Amino acid sequence: NQHCLSSARKGYGVFKGYALPENFAKYQKEIEDLEVYDDDVWVTSFPKCGTTWTQEMVWCIANDLDFEAAKVDLDERFPFVEYCVLFGIDCPNDSLPNVRKSIEYLKSKPRPRFVKTHLPWELLPKQIRNFERRPKIIHVARNPKDVCVSYYHHLRLLENYSGDLDLHMQLFVKNKLGWTPFFDNILGYWKRRSESNIIFLKYEDMKKDLRSVVVEVSDFLGVKLDEDQMKRLLHHLSFEQMKNNSSTDHSALVSFLKSKGLCYNPGGVFMRSGDTGSFKSEMSPKMIEFIDRWTEENLAGTGLKF
Ligand code: A3P
Repeated sequence: NQHCLSSARKGYGVFKGYALPENFAKYQKEIEDLEVYDDDVWVTSFPKCGTTWTQEMVWCIANDLDFEAAKVDLDERFPFVEYCVLFGIDCPNDSLPNVRKSIEYLKSKPRPRFVKTHLPWELLPKQIRNFERRPKIIHVARNPKDVCVSYYHHLRLLENYSGDLDLHMQLFVKNKLGWTPFFDNILGYWKRRSESNIIFLKYEDMKKDLRSVVVEVSDFLGVKLDEDQMKRLLHHLSFEQMKNNSSTDHSALVSFLKSKGLCYNPGGVFMRSGDTGSFKSEMSPKMIEFIDRWTEENLAGTGLKF
């Protein structure tokens, strides 16, 4: 299915059991050796689980709700460590520096640093894995059916994917997409959720009761919000607000890719449905049954439910 893979990538390699763009090989050591600080704040997630939403929440809580400073692009405030692997050394020179040289970019940021990654536990910097440093880690997960559908639209928008949803689902469950296996990736964090520096959130809980999640994250970050601040933050984090916010809607990246002809679906947007259950209108009953069974098998005995 080579034709369905991104034209921006050459293909995928397997690193400690995880599929990643093959030029991850050039950066794996640098990422594993990265100097980490106890005052770093990391948001970790499998792609499409609500990373952007969680990053904006975390950044605002940790930065005294400075909505003025939050006008800077989220990708600059909250660098994505392995952004470089998406485009790598073949990326044209005029691309965004925080994309092409993301590791250097992260290293240049003042502390406390805010860091995004989709990497599984096994590929994080060693200092995190051996608990030599304890940055705050906020993991966000989402039910696999919505992730699968959201990822499908994401790849059509950002990676020139031209296959259909059925093929995409096969690639997802067979661990052929970036950052899969999905369950191994999220379970690596789930298993460590009782560590003092790790919390595990779910997109569905954020949709149901964002206020409670904000309270949980504020407590974790040692911040107290009064009622007025809470109201302003909940408003700022609403889907409508974030969809119309050019610092959170990834429009700079989307425009860049469109200009390079790397968008199979140039009419698409990053902030798509912003809801739970959007899979229902796109997956056939057979696909739903299949993915439900696959989920049941993979989560048996783990205590994690969606
Ligand atoms: P959909 O494609 O289902 O709409 P990530 O940031 O991990 O790539 O996740 C993107 C998903 O989170 C998209 O899901 C996007 O619409 C959704 N999302 C982003 N901001 C949101 C918000 N404020 N409220 C609800 N969903 C949001």
